Amino acid sequence: MKKIRIIALTNKKGGCGKTTSCVNIAGLISKKKYKTLIIDMDPQGHALLHLGITKNNVSPLFVKSLTDINKYSDSIIFKKNEYLYITGGGKFLEEYEKNLTPNSFNPYALKQLIYSYFIDNFDFIFIDTPPSLEFLTTLSLVASKEVIIPTLTNFLSINGVEEVVDFIYEIKTEYNPDIEILGILPTFFNHRTNIGKFFLEKLKKSFGEDKILPPIRNNVALAEAPNFGKLIDEYKKNSLGNFDYTRVVLAILIKHKK
Ligand SMILES: Nc1ncnc2c1ncn2[C@@H]1O[C@H](COP(=O)(O)OP(=O)(O)OP(=O)(O)O)[C@@H](O)[C@H]1O
Ligand SMILES: [Mg+2]
Repeated sequence: MKKIRIIALTNKKGGCGKTTSCVNIAGLISKKKYKTLIIDMDPQGHALLHLGITKNNVSPLFVKSLTDINKYSDSIIFKKNEYLYITGGGKFLEEYEKNLTPNSFNPYALKQLIYSYFIDNFDFIFIDTPPSLEFLTTLSLVASKEVIIPTLTNFLSINGVEEVVDFIYEIKTEYNPDIEILGILPTFFNHRTNIGKFFLEKLKKSFGEDKILPPIRNNVALAEAPNFGKLIDEYKKNSLGNFDYTRVVLAILIKHKK
């Protein structure tokens, strides 16, 4: 079986840069000719939107395939180019999650879908998760081999990271012994403030220097790019955002070669 890396971007906290990191990291990796799939597990469908797929053209089939794997059809995948693909359930995931009960919930549903249909076709899968640690995030983490935790560098956010790490360990114990934390990704980072630097150091002390990915600075181009359905390197190649995400991608790929 082909060696595939399946990486979830997770944090319970909203607006910490999960989706921005997911689509830009995936996009930059696909430019290196790794065949890459983004799975948008957030009912907000922001990763889909970021790549120009609106609420109206998201297929309910993705969610049907989670409940009945035989319902799978190629049409659940949108092709951006030869190396970059995206799928997700958008608003249909909301209803799906609402109707789940602890008894009806199959935590392996997404993993089964990936291993039945995507595993041989991709080098990387990135999963964007909603800002919660409920069913949809559980599905995502059970299906993943690695996790990136994007976080702001302030007191409350760092406390939130500890909660996410505990949750990942619960998933590891109960369902997915293979899952590892690939790294914590400081976002909206401002190296000119002492508080940013202080909490970056704190993260390094708490989780180990090798677990902290290169920080992503506050950069307005990152917030503008989705309005044009573009990734950061297509929107502004010379931006801080493109520079910072390129560093993160190199850190991810160094691990790939080992
Ligand atoms: N480094 C950055 N600098 C400036 N703006 C950013 C940066 N990263 C993300 N943004 C903007 O901040 C907002 C929140 O980012 P994003 O949607 O990636 O967060 P999220 O964690 O996915 O949010 P949610 O929890 O709602 O899914 C978006 O408008 C995004 O364009
Ligand atoms: Mg998001």
